[in-house]
Amino acid sequence: MSEAEKVVCVTGASGYIASWLVKFLLQRGYTVKATVRDPNNPRKMEHLLALDGAKERLHLFKGDLLKEGSFDSVVDGCEGVFHTASPVINNFTDPQLWYSLSKTLAEAAAWKFAKENAIDMVTINPGFVIGPLLQPTLNTSVEPLLKLVNGAKIIPNATYRWVDVRDVANAHILAFENPSASGRYCLVGRVMHCYEVVKILRELFSDLNLPEKSEDDKPFVPTYQVSKERAESLGLNFTPVEVSLKDTVESFKEKKFLSV
Ligand SMILES: NC(=O)c1ccc[n+]([C@@H]2O[C@H](COP(=O)([O-])OP(=O)(O)OC[C@H]3O[C@@H](n4cnc5c(N)ncnc54)[C@H](OP(=O)(O)O)[C@@H]3O)[C@@H](O)[C@H]2O)c1
Repeated sequence: MSEAEKVVCVTGASGYIASWLVKFLLQRGYTVKATVRDPNNPRKMEHLLALDGAKERLHLFKGDLLKEGSFDSVVDGCEGVFHTASPVINNFTDPQLWYSLSKTLAEAAAWKFAKENAIDMVTINPGFVIGPLLQPTLNTSVEPLLKLVNGAKIIPNATYRWVDVRDVANAHILAFENPSASGRYCLVGRVMHCYEVVKILRELFSDLNLPEKSEDDKPFVPTYQVSKERAESLGLNFTPVEVSLKDTVESFKEKKFLSV
């Protein structure tokens, strides 16, 4: 079966990662059934409808995780389902724990369901996703980077597991197309302290007003390594973090998110 005949579903298609996924799937010739909560909201939909191939091969459906059975008829007959829909919260203190818990419980429930129903499932577990935005609105994971380049006075004493949104979208497709893909794939391009991020941004952009001081006098939160081996076994080539940072800031500029 050619890709053009392959019908796949992407849930939460208007989101940050899903928009890139839909773009790459259409580029590869797939027919995409995309679910969104409100297909009539042009702000959520316009960037998807403008993608190459969308006119011919993108079909929109309404789908809400909080409504039982909402996705049943959409996924029916699909070769594969890329399930990305999820509330992604924007607070990195206490509620972040609830977000992490929700992801852990949701993944455990999905593995149980897949096992009980003989579904061939693979999970993609990205770190902190950055990279250019296709959607017109700001998403949660690029917010800390926007804050940093948008007049922050201090550098957070924090370390993140950075990964490019295009790598995350590609990994989903590589995992789908590779019949031997199995289990979980952690995607982390590089673990880096915010101080190092600011250093790279300073070299890349002379026009940015970047912070100089760390938020506290404590030792820097340490970095560590996350193996790329399994993700690379899918054929994924990670985007260098310098490229991701450059493209993210350029995207902020293009979308006029920068106020300084
Ligand atoms: N970005 C990251 O750093 C990161 C890292 C690890 C994992 N992830 C996971 O990757 C997935 C996509 O994340 P993202 O960063 O692309 O987030 P995003 O831009 O916020 O996209 C999430 C999408 O989920 C949809 N959604 C929210 N609640 C829903 C509900 N009740 N029913 C149906 N759809 C709903 C939203 O749809 P509406 O447009 O209708 O609001 C939105 O389009 C999520 O599962 C997230 O947990 C993200």
